[in-house]
Amino acid sequence: MSNPSLLILAGDGIGPEVMGQVIRIIDWFGDKRSITFDVTEDLVGGIAYDKHGVPLHDDTMERAQQVDAVLLGAVGGPKYDDLDFSVKPERGLLRLRKEMDLYANLRPAQCFDALADFSSLKKEVVAGLDIMIVRELTSGIYFGEPRGIFEEGNERVGINTQRYTESEIDRVARSAFELARRRGNKVCSMEKANVMESGILWREVVQKVHDEDYPDVELSHMYADTGAMQLCRWPKQFDVIVTDNLFGDLLSDAAAMLTGSLGMLPSASLGAPMANGRPKALYEPVHGSAPDIAGQEKANPIACILSFAMALRYSFDMGDDAKRVEDAVEKVLSDGVRTGDLMQAGEGKAVTTVQMGNAIIDALNTSL
Ligand code: NAI
Ligand code: MG
Repeated sequence: MSNPSLLILAGDGIGPEVMGQVIRIIDWFGDKRSITFDVTEDLVGGIAYDKHGVPLHDDTMERAQQVDAVLLGAVGGPKYDDLDFSVKPERGLLRLRKEMDLYANLRPAQCFDALADFSSLKKEVVAGLDIMIVRELTSGIYFGEPRGIFEEGNERVGINTQRYTESEIDRVARSAFELARRRGNKVCSMEKANVMESGILWREVVQKVHDEDYPDVELSHMYADTGAMQLCRWPKQFDVIVTDNLFGDLLSDAAAMLTGSLGMLPSASLGAPMANGRPKALYEPVHGSAPDIAGQEKANPIACILSFAMALRYSFDMGDDAKRVEDAVEKVLSDGVRTGDLMQAGEGKAVTTVQMGNAIIDALNTSL
């Protein structure tokens, strides 16, 4: 069998800094675990625009379609703010998501015990929290037609359309049920079936997929506004939440913040299975290019490292090694190692990006 293949697109700002630590961990797997990844590095975002005049070159897109998984750092920055919309750095990322048809966006909200004090919620509400939000990523109100700003009588009207087909709901529901089987075996589907027809269809299709193919998974339905309240009140009641693009955007950001810093949050975007059975996949931290701290070795690499751990789990079926990386992160945090974003004002001394990487690699070494 050939080695698992990765395309690394570090991107802009802190992207290359945090990805540097992931590359060290990939090398660690080669040296210490004899697991060799075929790694190609390429450009995305502003840095790709600087070289090619586009934020994602066609060759890079083609490579992304061929590899087992893409790891992306971050794109964008003030230097590119005035570019035409069509070549903005973000368009590189959107093109990847669209052409790879990555319809299931996995956003874990996980609270490391060592950071439970850092949450805005009470410690007992978040300690040990481990939930997964599955957001539909390629359809819904961000894509539906008609859309636009139109003249109507003597004023303008802004229109967006929420539109979901049965097959779009079906496939993302399947992703959620499959995930649940590997976790707590529980799915809560969120929509607004009380006021939206697309929500009625959503609920029906999720229920049908459940009854036909996943009767062993516990399924509940909740209105998304109630879901928002329950997420703040008692998030540990959830395991997997599946929801549409718009509600998922809001709920996943809210859930993520229960657990602390942007510098801690990984994500995966998955599509249909390829010929080798692996899903099309893109892994990236939730944060952006952080121009305010770029180039200063202050960035927290953990979000990017945990994104790589997700790749191990969801693309390469290396759940034990994913856990090994997550445990190393947990250990380093309980030892009190902190980048600046994980500190309250006036508290101790922050480590650099590389020092955080060193600590995680030390912890990986002790895991052997
Ligand atoms: P941002 O996520 O880059 O930064 C927000 C705040 O969080 C900043 O104060 C930053 O220093 C801090 N931060 C973010 N990641 C961190 C890390 N790993 N360690 C420590 N601190 C961290 O979001 P912002 O400032 O709204 O956007 C900056 C640029 O990034 C813009 O050009 C934006 O378009 C782009 N962006 C790109 C995304 C992506 O590549 N997926 C996502 C969000 C924004
Ligand atoms: Mg958002």
